Amino acid sequence: MKHLLKMLDLSKEEIFSILNLADQLKFNQKHNIPHKHLEGKTLGMIFQKASTRTRVSFETGMYQLGGQALFLSSNDLQIGRGEPVQDTARVLSRYLDGIMIRTFAQKEVEDLAKYGSIPIINGLTDFAHPCQVLADLMTIREYKGAFDSLRFCYIGDGNNMANSLAVGCLKMGMKVSLGCPKDYAPDKQVLDFAKEYGDKFELTDDIFAAAKDADVIYTDVWASMGQEKEREQRAKAFKGYCVDDKLMAVTKPDAMVLHCLPAHRGEEISEEVFESHPEIFDEAENRLHAQKAVLVKLLG
Ligand code: CP
Ligand code: NVA
Repeated sequence: MKHLLKMLDLSKEEIFSILNLADQLKFNQKHNIPHKHLEGKTLGMIFQKASTRTRVSFETGMYQLGGQALFLSSNDLQIGRGEPVQDTARVLSRYLDGIMIRTFAQKEVEDLAKYGSIPIINGLTDFAHPCQVLADLMTIREYKGAFDSLRFCYIGDGNNMANSLAVGCLKMGMKVSLGCPKDYAPDKQVLDFAKEYGDKFELTDDIFAAAKDADVIYTDVWASMGQEKEREQRAKAFKGYCVDDKLMAVTKPDAMVLHCLPAHRGEEISEEVFESHPEIFDEAENRLHAQKAVLVKLLG
């Protein structure tokens, strides 16, 4: 594994290996066992969109691993003024040991990897959010012990999260059902991938059918970063696509609820469901541990 660009690129074995290392690093951190695997290493973090979790967990993670992280806002970089990605990639490769980038187009991330000579980590694009999904898988395993025979259900927009979760959960052996409005299905590349899994994958616009007997319910915002102008139109299209008590009544009684955050209470998730599922904050914490594992694998 040279980069982390999207879940489609990872094998089941690579995912297991990251999750196992993440568990070990979490144990080390909780027990004050030194784990400075990245002493002297520098991660550049390019942000073209806002972030709370990704920025803070990567920066803290690098520090805990003995390295450092540079926050590079695209407002301040020449990339924001039109310097080509090819040049940025080659220049930053001379200074840094790795780059984490959050941006719009997946192609920009793939181009950084193509033209640069250091590991590139996708910290969210319109297409994918692999760092989040690794933390999600880590949390599912913590709560459920294993992946086999679990039913995973995602409710909402067929966005970067839906794309990455469908691929990650199928690869790990779960049954996956997505409840998305007809015009908001996941990316074609993901649907083509999922086809190979036969009846282990289901896409429907009936959220109750999708959530039936689920072990894990996941949801995300109706309008992602960059889609602010579509907010009203999306609010209409997604009306009823809400994880609330009525929906939870058809899942397994011990179903867990996950959300990548930030959450919009009263839209994709009700206040009651959100506040009665503290695993959402274990999931947020696991961003730190899962990403430390990715950093050690790629920069170590
Ligand atoms: N879930 C997630 O990526 O959060 P941020 O946008 O705060 O980084
Ligand atoms: N789909 C959301 C995820 C945020 C972590 C977005 O792209 O804004």
